[in-house]
Amino acid sequence: MLLKRVVTCLCCYGISYVVQAQEQPAYKNASLAVEVRVKDLLGRMSVEEKAGQLNQLSGGAFTGPALNEAGQQTKIQWVKEGKVGSMLNVIGVAETRAIQQIAVEQSRWGIPLLFGLDVIHGYKTIFPIPLAEACSFNLAQVQQNATVAAAEAAAAGIHWTFAPMCDISNDPRWGRVMEGIGEDPWYGALLSAARVKGFQGNLDEQHILACVKHFAGYGAVEAGREYNNTDMSRVALWNKYLPPYQAAVEAGAATVMNGFNVFEGVPVSASKYLVTDVLKSKWGFKGFLVSDWNSFGEMVQWGYAADGQDAVVKAINAGSMMDMESKINITYIPTLLKQGKITQQQLDDAVGRVLAVKFRLGLFEQPYKYNSTEREQRLIFSAAHRAEALKAARASVVLLKNNQQSLPLRKTGQQLAVIGHYANSKEDLFDFWAAMGESKNAVTLLDGMQQKWGSKAITYAAGYSADGNTTDALVQEAVAAARKADVLVVNVGITGKLAGEDRAVANPVIPEGQLRLLKALRATGKPLIAVVSAGRPLVLTALEPLADAIVYAWILGTETGNALADVLSGDYNPAGKTVMSFPVAVGQIPVYYNHTNTGRPLPTDDQGNWFSRYRDIPNEPLYPFGYGLSYTSFAYSNLSLQDTLPAKGKPVQVRVTVTNTGTRDGEEVVQLYIRDHSAGIVRPVKELKGFQKVLLKKGESRQLHFTLTEEDLSYYDANGDKQIEPGRFSVFVGGNSKEVLEAQFRKVE
Ligand code: NOJ
Repeated sequence: MLLKRVVTCLCCYGISYVVQAQEQPAYKNASLAVEVRVKDLLGRMSVEEKAGQLNQLSGGAFTGPALNEAGQQTKIQWVKEGKVGSMLNVIGVAETRAIQQIAVEQSRWGIPLLFGLDVIHGYKTIFPIPLAEACSFNLAQVQQNATVAAAEAAAAGIHWTFAPMCDISNDPRWGRVMEGIGEDPWYGALLSAARVKGFQGNLDEQHILACVKHFAGYGAVEAGREYNNTDMSRVALWNKYLPPYQAAVEAGAATVMNGFNVFEGVPVSASKYLVTDVLKSKWGFKGFLVSDWNSFGEMVQWGYAADGQDAVVKAINAGSMMDMESKINITYIPTLLKQGKITQQQLDDAVGRVLAVKFRLGLFEQPYKYNSTEREQRLIFSAAHRAEALKAARASVVLLKNNQQSLPLRKTGQQLAVIGHYANSKEDLFDFWAAMGESKNAVTLLDGMQQKWGSKAITYAAGYSADGNTTDALVQEAVAAARKADVLVVNVGITGKLAGEDRAVANPVIPEGQLRLLKALRATGKPLIAVVSAGRPLVLTALEPLADAIVYAWILGTETGNALADVLSGDYNPAGKTVMSFPVAVGQIPVYYNHTNTGRPLPTDDQGNWFSRYRDIPNEPLYPFGYGLSYTSFAYSNLSLQDTLPAKGKPVQVRVTVTNTGTRDGEEVVQLYIRDHSAGIVRPVKELKGFQKVLLKKGESRQLHFTLTEEDLSYYDANGDKQIEPGRFSVFVGGNSKEVLEAQFRKVE
């Protein structure tokens, strides 16, 4: 349509003339407010096009089962017709640009697509898995890791990552604990917020949208089996599971993903309570939701929806929005709207939120701002990014055992045997979520140690094969190598390939074949250092007596070997603390530090009957939450509270002295826990409420100060309202959740 405008020309003052200009639709006018642009565009779009904005298709690679797969030509046709709002797993500048061009130039309104990808711990420069980086207790580093991942992904045309995963979990059988935050909701909240800030920054073209997942409570999958049932009370939901998601939303996360699980018997994609009442109303979430892969469609298998159409009704009525891969939004929304089973208002709210994000990213003005060949070449896998990955990897390592200072290893004058297939296998280094990371470019333990000690000082033997099994010949070869060495460094654990989605295991243990090897190596009498690689805590009870030192390496990414060589040599003094308890036996799972006391807690002397206990194993885990050693040692003293009867509204001031009692400088994660001894609902025996990571020179003592606010002392009731009650509280401070000093105070009315 042409617009007639009367313009007064200044040079020929007084003479008016008429020009004809092309009308610019309001939604294309970048100077207008986003809400105005959204409203304008919604007013133009057909119902089919609106359904299209709520349709997300996978480009090629599958991160879920193939479903009524549309061929590439059909997908392109849908993009042209405006029937696709977003694509996942389309990667790289060239590919994303080509498809974006079709959306922008050939669809009716030129609405750009959002390209999403699971950028979980790096794009090409691979950082430690999230569970490992959490052990660093260094939030600035965690944020920085996400910033680097975002910069690389954003350079390659990606707008959106499906991270952070904010699911609390107590079950190392679940393959996805690698992706998460461990077992503590308070620390999990800080980690989740840091990751969101790192990914999103100021949402310029060096950052990407975050997606808080899997909303909500997916980490409670029964028996750690992927896609399994979940069942929990509202007080568990509010106190244990929701805080990390909430913190991520409050940190500004633009999107949230529905989980695969159920809450109170309702698939969470259809939970009005979670999606509308909690997320949108109570928390005021303004972004949009995306389903998990076919989680709308799977309501049928759950036995909650009669068919795909019914599933869409239930999802949209709950307040859910974009459909990842089920292709049922695009199929049924127009009919359902006609039938009045969903409302125009629901549809416009959902579509409006998706469009708003696209406007906020500036994609209407610059649809290719994320497609930068120059940045793709300059940033991806750059030396600077690898240096960050190395820092992060070192800080993620947890030293679990170090008898008689077996570590660090001397750098000269001794012969080392490096044993273990994984020490020399690039294929086993990375997990399922390593995005575009190429393990051929990663540094193995053997590479890293050869770099540090020189090849001559090292003999290598595989000892076992890729599946963790061994043979007589492999054991004999390893023993022969061990006999020639002064110290043995044995890399055991499980392959990285068994970490991530769809990788639940019933037995998270050191494989039998590796134990057989370890026993044979132990018999040589040589000092034995075990380096354990795994994307989850493994049961280490059988390994423990066979090793003089245990270094927990998790999955450390591109710089694995360099980081481990720095730790083993003492060039880096380890300071990581584990964020999940290590079970004594599989039958002890779930075991976690923030459990309740029960009515029959086991006495500390372990004497007597009729207590809550196992008869064959201890109640306590092998290594508790917050545990990790250093090459130096720390002592805690003088825990004091400024006020043991703090008045209403007044914070509690806590002081403690920490001393480096060893012979090296070192970092310590000083942890503060509380216990509320009598409350409206039973509270855990310990809850982390503070930590400080401090560097202390050898011999140095420092007084540290913590402030406990009323907020820290509160809990949620079943309605999600915070409660703070008078009564007795304990404060504990220590270097892990078990070995602590204690003081008490009473909160008065
Ligand atoms: C399914 C996973 O549960 C989710 O975490 C992931 O983001 C999507 N697939 C997309 O790959």
